[in-house]
Amino acid sequence: MTPTDPPSRKKRIFSGMQPSGEAHLGNYLGALRRWVEMQDEHDCIWCIVDQHAITAGGDPKELPGHVLDLAVSYLSVGLDPEKSIIFVQSDVPEHTELAWLFNAVTPIGDLERMTQFKDKAQRFESIPAGILNYPILQAADILLYKADGVPVGEDQKQHLELTRDVARKFNAAYGETFPETEPLIEKGVGRILGLDGEAKMSKSLGNTVPVLAGPDEVWERVRTAVTDPQRIRKTDPGRPEVCNVYSLHHFFADGDVLEDIATQCRGATRGCVDCKRILSDNITERFTPFRERAAELVEKPERVREILDDGAVRARAIAGATITEVRDRMGLDWRASIG
Ligand code: TYM
Repeated sequence: MTPTDPPSRKKRIFSGMQPSGEAHLGNYLGALRRWVEMQDEHDCIWCIVDQHAITAGGDPKELPGHVLDLAVSYLSVGLDPEKSIIFVQSDVPEHTELAWLFNAVTPIGDLERMTQFKDKAQRFESIPAGILNYPILQAADILLYKADGVPVGEDQKQHLELTRDVARKFNAAYGETFPETEPLIEKGVGRILGLDGEAKMSKSLGNTVPVLAGPDEVWERVRTAVTDPQRIRKTDPGRPEVCNVYSLHHFFADGDVLEDIATQCRGATRGCVDCKRILSDNITERFTPFRERAAELVEKPERVREILDDGAVRARAIAGATITEVRDRMGLDWRASIG
């Protein structure tokens, strides 16, 4: 690099999570764990997407508590307000403004094709428009900050493709404004299966381990995990390659230990309950510092509020600049005609 070269810009990373209470192991392995690592290298923005959450139709009395719980999870697993911007979506009204403006370039057919829309729509007799428009708000979240990359799990892939389409269509109609943001989906962790061994780990399915769970709760949950269905008795040889508990061991045990676990399973020298005990202890060990930090934060909700307030101010500074540019490009700056 010569003295005249501009310093290379750090990559801008954005991601968000819906507040449905504290985060769980799937959120942690698929998203949060990587967010924490990214903070040291990139310019990161982490959002709590409460306006997305309302499309699920939960109890409004519970939402503020869920936002606080998720903020506590964010901070407890290691998201750091000194390194990143951490904020709540509804504190930055530019998100909904940009979402509205993106309605102008998003074909309804693209929204109707989304598999998440098709799944969710089945639950309603009369489908709320918010379920259909959900990915437009998600595109606005990301493009408002002109994010270069978005770390997410596999289930968000289609929404991120739509985000790229929205950026392309907007740029074609109104001039080059937005980047084509890259989805950052890590191989092997994009879809963590729940303890039922069947569906994606998800709070609504009750097949999770919460990240702030104590040893007893972790064990309560892990004890119920489904293993190789053909291994009925302890003396039956097991097949680690089809066992979800074994897949989860990969995130907590190193190569030699994994090999031992697999050998003992195949040779029927260790039963499933013992095997789950190892997993439960390892998860507890990983989660203990999170729980300790959470206990401190829960005592100081005003500190959490300060962090989110400050995050919203910093987010708005970026969001405001993008919205001004977009209004201008779309001809919404009528005062310009007066001069
Ligand atoms: P949400 O709240 O469902 O999930 C948050 C993040 O956790 C990941 N995740 C998982 N990863 C692997 N295995 C699992 N079992 C698992 N469960 C959840 C999700 O992939 C996600 O990365 N629409 C988004 C929220 C959102 C958003 C955004 C994300 C709104 N705006 C902008 C990124 C950028 C959602 O419902 O995620």
